[in-house]
Formats: sequence, C-alpha cells, structure tokens
Amino acid sequence: MTDRPTTLPTQAFAFSMLLACAAAPATPGTGDEASDEASDEATAANDSSGLGDASTTAAPELGPDDGSVTFYRDVLPIVQSRCIACHRDGNIAPFSLERYEDAWTWREAIMASITAGTMPPWLPGADCNTYTNDPSLPPDEVEVLAAWVAEQGPRGDLGDAPPPVEVEPSGLPRVDLTLALPEPYTPVGADDYRCFLLDWPLDAPAYVTGFHAKPGNASIVHHAIAYNITPDRVTQYEALDAADPSAGYPCFGGPGGAVSDPGAGLWLGAWAPGGGAAPYPEGTGLAMAPGSKVVLQIHYNTAAGGVGSDQTSIEMMTATEVEREAFMMLWADIDWLGGNMPIPAGDADVEHTWALDPTLVMDFLTDVVPPDQPFMIHSSSQHMHLLGTRARQDILRADGSNTCLVDIPQWDFGWQSAYRFSDPVRFEPGDTLRLSCHWDNASGTQDVNWGEGTGDEMCLGVYYVTGI
Ligand code: HEC
Repeated sequence: MTDRPTTLPTQAFAFSMLLACAAAPATPGTGDEASDEASDEATAANDSSGLGDASTTAAPELGPDDGSVTFYRDVLPIVQSRCIACHRDGNIAPFSLERYEDAWTWREAIMASITAGTMPPWLPGADCNTYTNDPSLPPDEVEVLAAWVAEQGPRGDLGDAPPPVEVEPSGLPRVDLTLALPEPYTPVGADDYRCFLLDWPLDAPAYVTGFHAKPGNASIVHHAIAYNITPDRVTQYEALDAADPSAGYPCFGGPGGAVSDPGAGLWLGAWAPGGGAAPYPEGTGLAMAPGSKVVLQIHYNTAAGGVGSDQTSIEMMTATEVEREAFMMLWADIDWLGGNMPIPAGDADVEHTWALDPTLVMDFLTDVVPPDQPFMIHSSSQHMHLLGTRARQDILRADGSNTCLVDIPQWDFGWQSAYRFSDPVRFEPGDTLRLSCHWDNASGTQDVNWGEGTGDEMCLGVYYVTGI
C-alpha cells in the first residue's frame, strides 16, 4: 500500500535480541552499568579475535571505543529525547535504544528510518504547517546520528552519558483529575480496539484544560482517544457496556455509538506514546457537564511481543472557569455519515473532498463563538481507518488564497495524534474548511462506506476551536 517499511527487519531484530542476551546474561536490561561492563567484555573479546583466537570469533562485533561522535556523549541524549518514549524495555517498540549494543546493532536501520521520516512516527508532512508537538529530529540532530553511523558507531565514555530520563512524564503542570479503567483488561489478538466507559466524577460544570493518557502497560498500549459522552447519550453507551461481560466493549473508529449521530464522540483528547501531553492553550478548556461519561478508546497492539493486562488511566487538568470556552469541532460531510461516501472494491485511489464554512452550519458553535464571527483553530487531528492512504485539511480563503492546516502524505491508523499549530489559525466567515481523504480499496472484495467497524471508513477532521 505504501513504501513505508511495514515489517520489521526480523533477522536484525533476532540478532539484537541475541546480542542483548549475550552481552548482559545476568540482568538483561537493568541499565547502563551492567551493559557497559558487558560491552567492555564484548569489545575486549572482539579485539582479541583479531589476534586469531578462534574461541572468541562468535563475540558480537561493536564499534570503536572512541570517535569524534560517541554514543554516550552525543547519541544517547538525542535518543532519550526522541526515541525511548517507545524504544525502551517493556515499551511499545520492538527493541530498546537505551543501550549502546542495541543502538549499534540498529544503526543502519535508525538512519534509514530517520531519513525516510518514518521514525519518530509523525504523520504530517513538512511542507504544510508547523506544530509545537512535532517530534521529528531537527537537522543538527540528524547530522550527529549520520556522523556516528559513518564512524561505525563509536561507544565513548559511560561517564559522558546523560542521567536517565522519565519516559512518559505527564507533561501537565498539575493533575487535577485521574480516571482509570475500572479493572485490568487483557487484550485479545494482535490488534484489539476496546472502549471503556468511565464516570465523570465532578458534580458541577467544569472545563478540561489539559489531557494526558498514562498507559498501565506501556508494552501494549498503542494509542488512546478519550470521548466526551454528554448526559443525553449516556444510556446508549451504558447499554453497549452492559452487553459485553468483560471490562469495556469492542469498538473501532469511534466510541461505538450510533454512526449517524454527528454530535457523538466529541474528543476530549488523543494520545500516542511519547506525545500528546500538554495543557490546552492558556485560558481555554472543554466544557464537561455533570452526569457526563468519558469513553476511553484504546488500541492494544501486541505485535512487538507485549503481554499481560492493562489498566490505563487518563490525567486531566480541570478548571471551574476559563476565559474562552473551547470546542472540539468534528468536521465531516453529513452526507458521508448518511452512507454517501462510497469506496468501491477494486479502486486503488478513491478520493472524497468536501468544503464548507462552519459558521453557516455549526449551531453548536454559538456556545463558544458568537454567530458569524471569526474563530481560532488551535490544533487539528485527522481520522480515517485502515484503508486510508493520505489526507489534507485546508482553509480556502474568501480571497482565493489557501491556508494549509495538515497534510498527511502517508496515513497510518496506528499513529493518530493531535497536531498543535505553532500559531493558531484564524478562520473568517466566508472562508471554507476543506477536508480531503484518499483510500486504497484495490485488494478489497467489498464496497466500503462510512461506519464504525474495522472494515468501514471515516474521513473526519477534529479541531480544537475557540473564539478570538
Ligand atoms: C511513538 C513511539 C516511537 C517513537 C517515539 C520512536 N519509535 Fe521507532 N518504532 C516504534 C514502533 C512501535 C516500531 C515497530 C514498527 C512499527 O510499528 O512501525 C518502531 C520501529 C523502529 C525501527 C525499525 C524499522 C522501522 O522503521 O520500522 C527503527 C530503526 C526505529 N524504530 C528507530 C527509531 C528512532 C531512531 C527513534 C527516535 C529518533 C524512534 N524509532 C522513535 C515506535 C517508536
């Protein structure tokens, strides 16, 4: 479907596992000290193999001890800030990048994935807009890694290593409210999409001003999206929850309710490992009414070998008042929801595009933005399912110009996130907000349309919007 490497280089992976076991037999993965000792041994063994000692020829080969760029001094700080949110023992990525031996083994693949832009995972292309939460490596960091690989991966001095970092810090200046899965849940199969219905505990109107998901089992939680279930919809969701005997209920592209309900599934926040943790823009927040519920949708992925149960929680910052109420605006053609978004079987590139001025149709905006007034868009998300290939969101200005919000050249369902604009974008009445989605159904035998299921599709823009 795409030229992105979707399968792991399993041989290299197996080799790295072997290496990790061979290098640190007693306590694999306990930290730099153990592995550094081990790598000293490994390097010594490797050196002596040059003298013709046949008994050491199986010792793992590693890079030079020193160089102008070293792992501990130059590479590890970059890896810590950009990669180990996932590439750490017991986390979602299939190998750790904390240890010299592993990073060395993977060095070519590391350069390849960075150059191809596949790692760190981040969907927006570079030529459209800029985002505060873009995890991509700046050019000077790419240069450091390239130099390190070119010098065959020098190890350097453990004494130069930066202190270890916390992997999934909340990112919120304070946490006022934590909601957790009611009980541990053990996912079934390689990809399990599960929704959990959580009580909203506050009995007075409040605003959510920051959101972060804290995975209970970081080796299997691939992404999480929280939805605000307004009081009038609670019964519908309680029925879904009650229909499934174990914790939560199956769901896929949304919280699992009626697909034709445009007011359902208001996002409270979206999270993917290592990202998505920051307060909402200063002075703004999403209103939550007493009696609401929160649906937490989690994509569990056990492909990297993660096992066990999970009890994820979400951390929120709340306020009783905000200067400007925010609104999570879901943006899609209402006709699509009604089943008019055909994606015929056998078609390799189906596009649906739609543009409209939200101030003309969004009655609900009036709580947040006075009628016919401009508004600000602070962040955006894109949502499609598994057949999606690319997508783009633009504002077509009344004067004929165009403001690109997000361009996703290669969609990947597994790495959805919120894209926070470096500068909030002002929308003027008379402009239109355009959404364009592409799908590949070439190998499909069934026509596909809008729906909630794994085999259905969506084309949805999600915007964090406030008055000006
Ligand atoms: C948000 C989590 C996450 C972050 C951050 C991340 N990775 Fe990955 N990485 C993964 C996962 C998961 C895989 C397994 C393949 C997949 O699902 O795409 C992977 C696979 C890889 C691979 C195997 C080849 C490939 O491209 O699939 C390399 C190499 C890699 N990552 C390097 C890095 C480097 C270097 C960084 C930091 C600059 C990084 N990754 C940051 C999650 C992450």
